[in-house]
Amino acid sequence: MRWRQFFRRKPLEILLAEMAGEHRLHRVLGPVSLTSLGVGAIIGAGIFAMTGRVAAEDAGPAVVVSFMIAGVACMLAAFCYSEFAAMAPVAGSAYTYTYATLGELWAWIIGWDLVLEYAMSCSVVAAHWSHYLDEFLWISFGWNIPPQFLSDPFTPVLVQGVPVQAYVNLPAILIMAVITAILVVGIRESALTNAVLVIIKLVVVLFVVVLGWRYVDSWNWTSVPVEQRQVSDVTDYLERHPAVAAQVPPGTVGPLTSGTALLEQHPELAASLSSAEQLAVQQLPHEAHKWGLLGVLGVRQWLQPLDEAIRSPFFPYGFSGLMIGAALVFFAYIGFDSISTHAEEAVRPQRDVPIGILASLVICTVLYVLVSGVITGMEPYPEIDLEASVAAAFRKRAELDSSPLLQASAWVIAAGALAGMSSVLLVTFLSQARIFLAMARDGLLPHSIFGVVHSRFRTPHRSTLLTGAAICLVSGILPIRLLEEMVSIGTLMAFVLVCASVLLLRITRPDVHRPFRCPAVYLVAPLGVLVNLAMMAFLPIDTWLRLVIWLALGLAIYLGYGYRHSRMGHELQRQMQTQGLSPTDAPLTS
Ligand code: ALA
Repeated sequence: MRWRQFFRRKPLEILLAEMAGEHRLHRVLGPVSLTSLGVGAIIGAGIFAMTGRVAAEDAGPAVVVSFMIAGVACMLAAFCYSEFAAMAPVAGSAYTYTYATLGELWAWIIGWDLVLEYAMSCSVVAAHWSHYLDEFLWISFGWNIPPQFLSDPFTPVLVQGVPVQAYVNLPAILIMAVITAILVVGIRESALTNAVLVIIKLVVVLFVVVLGWRYVDSWNWTSVPVEQRQVSDVTDYLERHPAVAAQVPPGTVGPLTSGTALLEQHPELAASLSSAEQLAVQQLPHEAHKWGLLGVLGVRQWLQPLDEAIRSPFFPYGFSGLMIGAALVFFAYIGFDSISTHAEEAVRPQRDVPIGILASLVICTVLYVLVSGVITGMEPYPEIDLEASVAAAFRKRAELDSSPLLQASAWVIAAGALAGMSSVLLVTFLSQARIFLAMARDGLLPHSIFGVVHSRFRTPHRSTLLTGAAICLVSGILPIRLLEEMVSIGTLMAFVLVCASVLLLRITRPDVHRPFRCPAVYLVAPLGVLVNLAMMAFLPIDTWLRLVIWLALGLAIYLGYGYRHSRMGHELQRQMQTQGLSPTDAPLTS
C-alpha cells in the first residue's frame, strides 16, 4: 500500500466523459423542477418541529437570528456547490467534487460523511414525523399515541410530570418502511408529484406566516423576563435552586460536572428530590457544554462574558445560545445540496443547477426567518411546544379563543407538515441512493449491493432496502437530539470541504471551463470554511467524538474494501503496466 495512492484523483475529463456515456439518467429537470426539488428537500422537520424546541431550550426569540446565521453559512457553501455542480454535473455531488480535487481518500471520507447528511437526516425527520402524527391525531380525534411507542428508549419522557419509559419510536419506523417500499418499487419523485408536495408545503408555510402574524405580540420577543428561560446546565440549576445548592458542598461542582455525575456524587441529594426533579437534573449537561468544542478547549472563560453582555429578553441564552441555536437550526437548511445529486437529470445543468440551488435557499431562508418570528411572537418562548411547535401554537390559540376556524388551521398545518416531511424523506433518501450509486460505480462500495439496479423496477433495490432498514432502526431507537447533532456536524464538515475544494481547484486547474463562477471566490470560499467551522465548534464535544468514531469506522471500511477495489486504482495500475512504470510514478493528478 503506497500512501500516494490514497490521493489519486479522478480527472475532471474522465468525469465529464462518464457523464456523456451510456446508462445515465434521463435529462428531464428544468430550473423550476430543480428549485422545487430543492424546496422539497429543505422544508421539513427543521422548521416544523425543531424551531420551537431550539427557541424554548437554546436560543429564545433570537432563534430568528440563529436562522439568519445558518442561512448565511449555507449561502456561502451554496455558491461553492454551484460552481462545482455546473462544472461537473454528476450524481455524486460533494463526493465526486472531492474525488476530482483532494483525491480518493478525501472523497471516500466525504462520501461516508454524507451518509450522516442524507441517511441519518432521514432518521431525524422520521422521528419528528411521529410527533406530528401524534399532534395530528390529537387535533383530529382527540387520540394520542401511547408515549411508550413515541420515543427512543434513551430519552426520558415525562407524562404529566411522571417519568415514563419509552420503548421505541414506532411511527418513525413505519413511515420509513413505507418510504423504502415506495423507493424500491420505483414510484420516483416525478417532477409533478414533487411539485404538488412542494406547493402544499409552501401554501402551509405561507398560511402560518399570514395567519400567525395576526396573533404575534411583540412582548413575547422583547419582554419575557430572562429568569423564565429554561435551566441550561448544572451551574445554572444550582444558581436558581439555592435550597438544592445548599446541600452540595462547595468545590464539588465544576464546569465539567454533569447532572448525572452530580447525582452520583451526592446520593443524599438524589434522595431529597422527587422522581421528576431527579430526571430533570439527570438530563442537565455540564456548564462547559453550551460552548461546544470551545468549552473544553480552554477559551470558555473568554467567551463567558459575551453571554452576559448580550443576555436580554431577546437573547435569553446569550451568545452561546445564539450559536448553538444556529448549529441546530442549520438542520432546517439541509437539502439544497441534494439538487447537485440530481445534476445528471438536469436538461441544462450548467445554468439550471446553480439557479436551483441558490433560488431554493433564498426562498427557504426568507420563509424560515418569518416562521420563526411568528412562532416566537405567538407565545412566550418557554411555553412553546417542544415537538410539534407550529401546529401546537395554533391549536393552543384555538383552545384559548374557542375558535373552530383556528382549530381547522391547526389541522391543516399538522397535515401539511406531515406531507412536507414525507417529501423531505423521499428526496433525501433518493439522494443517498444516488451517492451510493456513484461510489459503487467508482468501485469504492460493493457493486453487487449498491450498484445493482432491479431489472423490473429500475431502482437500486438492494442498496435502498439495506439503507432503509438501517434508517428504520436508527430512527426507532436512538435519541433524536444526538442524531440531529450528528447530522449537523456531518453536513457542516461536507460544506467546509466543498468550500475548500472549490478554492483549491481554482488554483490547481484555472484552465477548466466554469459555466458558473462563485463570485469573489477568494473571499466567499474561506468565509464559507470559517463560518461553517465556527458552527461546528459550538457543537458538543461528544458529537465531535462520535464524528471521529464514525470517520474511523469509514476509514476501516475504505482500507478493507474501497482502496483495493477502486476503479481509478485499477485503471492507474493498468496504465503503469502498459507504460512499464513503477507504482510510485503513477500520475496522481488530473
Ligand atoms: N432540511 C430538512 C428538514 O428540515 C432535512 O427536514
